[in-house]
Amino acid sequence: MKKNKVFVAVFCIIAFIGIGMGLPYHKERNLKVLPKDISDARLDSIMKTYTVALGVKCNFCHVPVKNIPDSLDYVSDADPMKENAREMMRMVIDINKAYFYFDKTVKPEYLNEVTCNTCHRGEPIPNNK
Ligand code: HEC
Ligand code: HEC
Repeated sequence: MKKNKVFVAVFCIIAFIGIGMGLPYHKERNLKVLPKDISDARLDSIMKTYTVALGVKCNFCHVPVKNIPDSLDYVSDADPMKENAREMMRMVIDINKAYFYFDKTVKPEYLNEVTCNTCHRGEPIPNNK
């Protein structure tokens, strides 16, 4: 019996850590623009470029997991800002593909001649006036 309780306790701790970190491992990916076979590392580094370019944090586009503070549900599309961002991503991919697609071994989604930062420069809404 005692062993059982320890097992359950350890299991719960591991489960909570997993949920708390908001890791998408147990869920299907919800990618409509980026390639489905993208590596975690590449996805992560692309997301970081968005935060730098827009001068925001991850929660600008991703909503928290319900009832879990300091967590984010990256798979969820509940924040409409995520769809705004997808539109921007499509635009950037189209521009790069049309005008800067020199190295055909690279997927168009990974071209970065024109990037979010080309216009945003640290602002969520670029001011070009
Ligand atoms: C400007 C908006 C924006 C910001 C800021 C942002 N993301 Fe994202 N994120 C997106 C969009 C849009 C997608 C979905 C891309 C697609 O559909 O191909 C996404 C997808 C993801 C996914 C994949 C989820 C899945 O379906 O498996 C992860 C993980 C993720 N983001 C992590 C982060 C992290 C970590 C940060 C902060 C460093 C961050 N994001 C910041 C817009 C953003
Ligand atoms: C060609 C210039 C340009 C590029 C490149 C660009 N954006 Fe934008 N973005 C804009 C402009 C201009 C606006 C403001 C539109 C408006 O006034 O509604 C904007 C608005 C946004 C918004 C909405 C902000 C808000 O608060 O409503 C998001 C999110 C966004 N961009 C994300 C991105 C991401 C992510 C990338 C890179 C994948 C990107 N943008 C690349 C020009 C650009």
